[in-house]
Amino acid sequence: MYAKIAVYLKIITAVLIVAFIGIQFIPVERSNPPVTGEIDAPPRVKEIFMRSCYDCHSNETVWPWYSYIAPASWLLADDVAEGRDELNFSEWKGYEEKRKLKKFKEIREEVEEGEMPQWYYLLLHGDATLTDADKQALFDWTATGGK
Ligand code: HEC
Repeated sequence: MYAKIAVYLKIITAVLIVAFIGIQFIPVERSNPPVTGEIDAPPRVKEIFMRSCYDCHSNETVWPWYSYIAPASWLLADDVAEGRDELNFSEWKGYEEKRKLKKFKEIREEVEEGEMPQWYYLLLHGDATLTDADKQALFDWTATGGK
């Protein structure tokens, strides 16, 4: 009985190892396209964006070592692709005025609700945590419409 369970466990372990190795060969998009229209913001605000948002909302993502290991790599690449799609500070100058204003409003909402940066990102990037002063600086600047 126990001998049989031991055999099953060995088979399951072998299958998992093979699957883990196999998924490493699935291609993952980890590119940093050129910066075409970086946002102009006061240094204080820019520093906050770079520290807390740029990994997912710019073309200057710092890809950590675990972004090279599936399945973590899939989650990261997905987040970056979706994040850039929603808001890309590296292509900001190409946005229509209306879109910029909409994004300012969304930034305020997301930050106010504590949705951005995401909690799971903060687990690994403690320095991206926004202090009350950081949040206020973002609110003050976005309220001016980026002037
Ligand atoms: C770990 C990646 C990641 C980080 C870091 C991050 N975001 Fe996002 N962000 C996303 C993803 C993915 C989406 C799209 C899905 C969603 O809305 O949750 C998004 C969506 C948004 C949106 C659009 C929301 C809407 O209304 O649809 C705004 C605005 C935003 N983020 C602002 C920020 C700001 C500001 C920061 C930094 C303070 C930040 N994000 C940090 C990944 C990230």
